[in-house]
Order: sequence, then C-alpha cells, then structure tokens
Amino acid sequence: MSEVDNGVIKIGTEKFIPLISEEEIQKRIKELAVELSKEYDTKLPIFIGILNGSFMFLADLIKNIIFPCEVDFFKLSSYGDEKISSGKVKLLKELNADITNRHIIIVEDIVDSGLSIKYIESLMEQFNPASMRVISLLVKPASIKYEIKIDYIGFEIEDKFVIGYGLDYAQKYRNLRSIHVLSE
Ligand code: IMP
Ligand code: MG
Repeated sequence: MSEVDNGVIKIGTEKFIPLISEEEIQKRIKELAVELSKEYDTKLPIFIGILNGSFMFLADLIKNIIFPCEVDFFKLSSYGDEKISSGKVKLLKELNADITNRHIIIVEDIVDSGLSIKYIESLMEQFNPASMRVISLLVKPASIKYEIKIDYIGFEIEDKFVIGYGLDYAQKYRNLRSIHVLSE
C-alpha cells in the first residue's frame, strides 16, 4: 500500500521525496536531443533501449528527435524485487535488428554499478557496430564499480535509491512522471 502526501510517497514505513520534476526531466531531454542531433543527423542510428527501466526515457527522447532513426530493445534481468543489485546480469531478450556497421545508441534509465553497461558493451563487440555510445538519464557516479564511459548524461545523482519515470521498486512506480528518492 502506498499513499501520496504533498509529493511525498509513503510505501510501508519508507518515504520517497521529490528529486527531479517532470518539467526538469523534459527540459533536459530536449537538450540531450539537440546534442544528439549534432552527431547523428545523417547517420541513421539505432536507439537500443535496455528494458524495462528505459522505456519511458527512450519514448520521450525520440519524440524530441527529428533525424531519421530506428529503435530496438535488449532486456536484461533486473534487480529482482529489492533495492540492491543481485550483482548478476542475464540476457532475457536479444536484438532483432542487424547492427553490423550501424551506429548504436544504448539507452539506459540509470547507471548504478555500471555492470549492465559493461555487460552490454562486451555483448556488442561480436556484432561490429560502426560506433556505440551510451546515454543514461541518471548516473550515480559514487557507485560506479566498472570501467565504463557514459557519453550523454541527463542528471548525476547521489548514491540513493530512486523510483519513477520508468524506474521501479519491486516492479511498481514506473508510471510516475517525476523521480522520487528514498529519504533516510
Ligand atoms: P547497474 O548494472 O548496477 O549499473 O544497474 C543498472 C540497473 O539497475 C538500471 O538499469 C536499473 O534498472 C537498476 N537500478 C539501479 N539503481 C536503481 C535505483 O535507484 N532505482 C531503481 N532501479 C535502479
Ligand atoms: Mg535498467
């Protein structure tokens, strides 16, 4: 059971407070779309969303993009139902697109330890894309444990658990339009 009181979401004994508003998210996405346009105007890139978390960010991002592009998805195993990563990644859905010699933009909701991105990077090597860049709406710089490069970042946030705008807590709260953070 959860209740909302003045923007604060109460889930059992836990409280999630507003962190990034819908307006801030949408403003930043427009800026990111402009940045991407400089690089990809004539390259017909493929946006590859990492399911489930990135679906909302990917949708809003490409709505702001005017150059020709394609979309595909990978699905990785998630956190399970907890707030802490299992430390393991499993591929649950492969790509449909042939990405050989194509320009790839990996789209993530959030980079925490960096394990998922590291895993995707090693997976992509075998397909020989023309280029591969990573865009993530959120990054927790303090919790990155792997050597990875995030090329486009929406917001850097503290190492705290967040929900909303695609991000879940035990599969729920993805439908929130803004991002909330667990208050300690
Ligand atoms: P990483 O592999 O440790 O970088 O974790 C990446 C994935 O874990 C993200 O794509 C999210 O699905 C999930 N994740 C990481 N931090 C959070 C969070 O604060 N809230 C919800 N999901 C998260
Ligand atoms: Mg994710």
